[in-house]
Amino acid sequence: MHRDALPAHEDPAPYRALLRPAGARHIDVIDQRALPHALVRAKIADPDAAALAIRRMWIRGAPLIGAVGAYGLALALDRDPSDAALAKAHAALDATRPTAVNLRWALDRVRARVAPLSPSARADAAWAEADAIAAEDAAFNRAIGEHGLALLRGIAQRRPGPVRVMTHCNAGALATCGWGTATAPLFLAHADGLALSVWVSETRPRLQGANLTAWELAQRGIPHTLFADSAAGLLMQRGDVDLVIVGADRVARNGDVCNKIGTYDKALAARDNNVPFYAAVPSPTIDWNTADGAAIPIEARDSDEVLTVAGRDDYGQTVRVAIAPHGTKAVNYAFDVTPARLITGLVTERGITRASRDWLAAMFPERA
Ligand code: MRU
Repeated sequence: MHRDALPAHEDPAPYRALLRPAGARHIDVIDQRALPHALVRAKIADPDAAALAIRRMWIRGAPLIGAVGAYGLALALDRDPSDAALAKAHAALDATRPTAVNLRWALDRVRARVAPLSPSARADAAWAEADAIAAEDAAFNRAIGEHGLALLRGIAQRRPGPVRVMTHCNAGALATCGWGTATAPLFLAHADGLALSVWVSETRPRLQGANLTAWELAQRGIPHTLFADSAAGLLMQRGDVDLVIVGADRVARNGDVCNKIGTYDKALAARDNNVPFYAAVPSPTIDWNTADGAAIPIEARDSDEVLTVAGRDDYGQTVRVAIAPHGTKAVNYAFDVTPARLITGLVTERGITRASRDWLAAMFPERA
């Protein structure tokens, strides 16, 4: 899908988190660490750079991690298409981040495609498979957007004023190869002229909401308000939220949703205040091999991310400052699990389903 080939409202984003220039043997990504202060693009031309970009979170978000992982394998096979090199690159990329299942899914898919081929045919096939994964992700985003849009339209018909949507972290275009997952309904609604007011959680410690989601909404002119993570319950209690929609890093077979830390708290507050709570879930995010959320590996990151904040000072310099006494112990789990019972529905590319084993199996009978 090329931007120029589409009418303006069809464009998944005026910025693309991941591009492969036609015929190129490299990819081009946004280095998301620089946002929202600068839009910096980085060329990834070798497998080690792909692994580093995932590990250090130049790129992040489950579907994007999967796509970059797939291209990382293609880059590795360009250098050495042997069985040993394939196994080594698969293992190295798989070890970069543990929670988003899209990474393992994409790596396994590319490996399954190329392993039966002769070594000389492998690299081209890997590039083509990575392209297919990226294109499919954009199509899934769009379909999720259509299904989610119906929910927003339903709310708009029931009450006057803008539809007030809360989201957490960044499940936007920056996290995918297209429209984003949780943001796709918002982008489509806005393009359709539906009035929105989006509540954006700051998402400590890495501030994906403040740095990335607020930036994406501003790029599109969608009204939004940033709030401190701890204010979510109050906003719902005051009746200021019509619907919560978040992304997902891994959904277990029973419908438990693992997503950015702080998602569970929002689901609890939503349940207590009768606010519908949805997760946007493209099918590669469903882990059919994991029975429930307790079995999902939760990434533990460096405590420095909790003990400091980074931002831009009055002189335009990016600075990182300490916010706790030197030597303070901190814990930094990157994700949590929201039990299926707290989830109103999962918005997949095939439609909206209940978060339960039976409903998921009915929606994806070929996978269950
Ligand atoms: O640590 P991150 O920034 O990779 O976490 C991202 C999230 O938790 C997103 O909500 C999730 O990956 C879905 S992105 C469509």
